[in-house]
Amino acid sequence: MKLLILKLISLTILAMCDLKKHQIKKNGIDEDDRIVGGETVYINKYPFLVHLMEFVVEAFLPDRRTPKIVAVGDWHFVCGGSIVAISWALTAAHCIYEKDPEIEYGRLSFRANTTYSDIKVNKSVSNHKVLSFKIPDCYRHTRHDCDLSVVKVEKPFRGVDIKPIPLAPYNYNYRDHTKSAFVYGWGASKTGGNRTRALQRIKAFIVPTHICYMMSGSSTWIMTQNMFCTVEPKGQGACKGDEGGPIVKDNIQIGVASLVAHMCGDGQPTLYTKLSKFSKWIEQITKSRTNRQ
Ligand SMILES: *[C@@H]1O[C@H](CO)[C@@H](O)[C@H](O)[C@H]1NC(C)=O
Ligand SMILES: *[C@@H]1O[C@H](CO)[C@@H](O)[C@H](O)[C@H]1NC(C)=O
Ligand SMILES: *[C@@H]1O[C@H](CO)[C@@H](O)[C@H](O)[C@H]1NC(C)=O
Repeated sequence: MKLLILKLISLTILAMCDLKKHQIKKNGIDEDDRIVGGETVYINKYPFLVHLMEFVVEAFLPDRRTPKIVAVGDWHFVCGGSIVAISWALTAAHCIYEKDPEIEYGRLSFRANTTYSDIKVNKSVSNHKVLSFKIPDCYRHTRHDCDLSVVKVEKPFRGVDIKPIPLAPYNYNYRDHTKSAFVYGWGASKTGGNRTRALQRIKAFIVPTHICYMMSGSSTWIMTQNMFCTVEPKGQGACKGDEGGPIVKDNIQIGVASLVAHMCGDGQPTLYTKLSKFSKWIEQITKSRTNRQ
């Protein structure tokens, strides 16, 4: 126990040092353009990052050129994600589990090859229409258990800045704290804020379950063996819109962001789906002959 407390204290100190660095860096940079306390990173370094977009219909109008009725609307950001195979992306189950109608009408798409979530910036964006998705049988929406989905896209993920990321193997050791993990996303830069334009990254520390409960105060969720939890220094953290995105350590994706705190950057823990529990299941799907393109 003593060792653990020492470890925690050193973690906190580490975290505080990091925060100072960020605050110094922040001077002169537009604060609105950031995840909570994050730093901007570029897609060429992290080519496995994608985000899920949905075409939200505002009206159905007759097309002037054809006698058809067309849907009028705009593309909206839904969730983060990652590329795991040539035609497959990973996101959280809660981001997609009710979206069969949108998929049927071709209104759900992953965007790759872009640092920006801004739909107006689309010159080099690679769009990948969603065809179908799979969710583990153990997924429980209200309990956030097994919150992940493997999503098949129409156009394969190919390109210099479009690459899959390896997943944590079934025997991955989540207790090794010698290196920190990183969370990536376009989520809000403050509680109640909008998503960020440019891709952000923050450092995250994996903590044991009891620390997770302790840090959360009055948690409304129960940790299962399919989850793990991170804390970030105060002033940093995942926020709304970061769900579905990856947490990465040593160039391996170890989790999918599942539940972010209501109060972002307030020292509240973030819950992730533990990928080591699902990497075999994912591999079976993405490598199966019937699913291969
Ligand atoms: C870029 O966006 C415009 C307007 O939203 C759209 O008409 C065009 O097809 C898009 N281009 C690509 C390559 O996605
Ligand atoms: C990715 O973006 C770069 C520009 O940043 C562009 O040159 C390239 O053609 C794009 N690749 C794909 C596959 O869209
Ligand atoms: C978020 O975006 C909407 C629509 O663009 C805007 O009306 C609103 O003021 C923004 N909110 C914040 C907190 O920036």
